[in-house]
Amino acid sequence: MESDAGDRWTNVDRYIDGTLVGSDDALEQALQECAAAGLPPINVSPSQGKLLHVLARAVGARRILEIGTLGGYSGIWLARALPHGGTLVTIEVNEAHARVARRNFDRAGVTPRIEMRVGRALEVLPTLVNEHQPPFDLVFIDADKTEYADYLERSIPLCRSGSLIVADNVVRNGTVVDGESPDPLVRGVRRFMAVVAGDRRVTATALQTVGVKGYDGFAVIVVV
Ligand code: SAH
Ligand code: DHB
Ligand code: MG
Repeated sequence: MESDAGDRWTNVDRYIDGTLVGSDDALEQALQECAAAGLPPINVSPSQGKLLHVLARAVGARRILEIGTLGGYSGIWLARALPHGGTLVTIEVNEAHARVARRNFDRAGVTPRIEMRVGRALEVLPTLVNEHQPPFDLVFIDADKTEYADYLERSIPLCRSGSLIVADNVVRNGTVVDGESPDPLVRGVRRFMAVVAGDRRVTATALQTVGVKGYDGFAVIVVV
């Protein structure tokens, strides 16, 4: 049953990719480079990358913050949504991941729009606050699930009223509903959801997703 469902989700993702999403050598090669370098295959799917791109364009994002670069796949989708002069600040703790991402950004021709910060997000975010840069229009949270609530706390001061914050992997194959789960990733996501729910600076929902990446979901948050 489950594998039938999985096949259907994959087939429909392929259909959506073939009709609406589109692809090109830079995106395909980015995924190939990630695999060749032995990075874990935990990038967003093509249709999810396109969703991030569409959201960035919908809010007219000129400045985007990404927490968790990996090999730059979601970053390419986001950077391509920026207008001339726009910036994607993307944070990655793993130098090997960052190296792969830099090459992928280069090949995609988006390097002039990228500011990569190599370091732990919880250390980098306060330095961004101190730099007094203009606010981010969109934040994509996709790094260590146990720290999601802390990323949110440190990202809101970097936003403006109307900024969008999207967080990946908040459903985790449905395990998120288990309040007794010992899994630190589930506990991290649940703590994040509780912080979002209780923070009057934001209002939010979450969307369940299925597809080539299985069953998961995004939290979609707006700063009020
Ligand atoms: N957004 C990427 C996938 C990110 S995977 C894409 O869709 O293409 C999560 C990434 O977060 C990994 O590369 C991991 O090294 C990084 N990461 C994990 N903990 C981190 C931390 N504390 N600070 C910054 N990056 C972190
Ligand atoms: C994991 C992390 C992700 O960001 C993701 O999209 C899927 C899986 C993980 O750490 O297992
Ligand atoms: Mg993710």
